[in-house]
Amino acid sequence: MASEVKRLRTGVEGIDELLEGGIPEEFLVAVTGEPGCGKTIFSIHFINQGVIEGDKCIYVTTEESRESIVKQAAQFGMDFSGAIAEGKLIVIDALMGKDDRWSLQGLDLEALVGKIIEAKKELGYGRARVAIDSLSAFWLDKPAMARRYSYFVKKVLSKWNFTILAVSQYAITTAESFGWGIEHIADGIIRFRRLLKGGELRRFVIVEKMRQTNHSRYLHEVDIKPGVGMVVLGRVDRRAEDYKLPPDVVKKILEAKRRSEGVL
Ligand SMILES: Nc1ncnc2c1ncn2[C@@H]1O[C@H](COP(=O)(O)OP(=O)(O)O)[C@@H](O)[C@H]1O
Ligand SMILES: [Mg+2]
Repeated sequence: MASEVKRLRTGVEGIDELLEGGIPEEFLVAVTGEPGCGKTIFSIHFINQGVIEGDKCIYVTTEESRESIVKQAAQFGMDFSGAIAEGKLIVIDALMGKDDRWSLQGLDLEALVGKIIEAKKELGYGRARVAIDSLSAFWLDKPAMARRYSYFVKKVLSKWNFTILAVSQYAITTAESFGWGIEHIADGIIRFRRLLKGGELRRFVIVEKMRQTNHSRYLHEVDIKPGVGMVVLGRVDRRAEDYKLPPDVVKKILEAKRRSEGVL
C-alpha cells in the first residue's frame, strides 16, 4: 500500500502532490531536461528540504561552483552557507578543481562515490539525501557507460541510506536523456521541459516514472519565482505532443548533427 512507503518531500509542494507525497526513501531518481529548465533549482529545493527535516545532506556540483549554488539558494531564502557551517550540508565541488577537502580534482566516478561516503561519515548517522548535479557529466565522453555508472552509484550509495537525485542532461538530438542508460536504472524519472510560446519562456514538468507510486501522468507548468523558487502552476490541458518540437524541425536538427559527425 502506498501509505507504507516512506517518502521524502521534495521541497516543491506542487511536485510532492504529483508523487503521493514525495520520493520513496532510498530511490535513485533521474532529473532530466534541457539547460535552463530548472533541474538545478529543483535539486536545491530537495536538499534544502532535507536540511529542514534534519537529513544528512550532500550537493555535488559539476557545472557550477559551490559559491554559485550557495548564491542561487540564497536568492530563494535558503541558507546553504549556514547549513554548511552547522554541519548539516556538504557541497562537493567537482568543477573548480580546488584543493579543499570537499572538492574533486576531476570527473572520476569512483572518486565521487568515495567522496560522497566520506561526506556522509562526516555528517553522521541517519537518513541522507544527495543531489548529483549532474551525474551525466561523469560519462560525457563515454555515453555508453551511463547505465553501468548509474548502477554503480545506486548499488554503493543504497547501503548508506541515501535517497539520490541524479541530474542528467537532455539531448534534443536523440530525444533521450544524454546516455539514456540511467533511465533504465533509475527508480523514477522527473523530466523538465522548456518551450518558447508566444515569445515567452515557459517551463513544464512531467513524472515519467516513479516506482511504487501512483503518480500523475500529466504535464504541469512550473514557474521559478524571484525570492521563492520553483512552484507548480497547474496541469496543462493540451497534450504533451503540443509542447514538443515539430517533427520537421527535429529531422533538420538530426540531419545537421549527423552531417557534423560525418555520417551523411
Ligand atoms: N532569482 C531568480 N528568480 C527567478 N528566476 C530565476 C532566478 N534564478 C534563476 N532563475 C531562472 O532559472 C533558470 C536556471 O534554472 P536552473 O535550475 O539552473 O536550470 P538547469 O539546471 O536545468 O540548467 C534561469 O535561466 C532563470 O530563468
Ligand atoms: Mg543546472
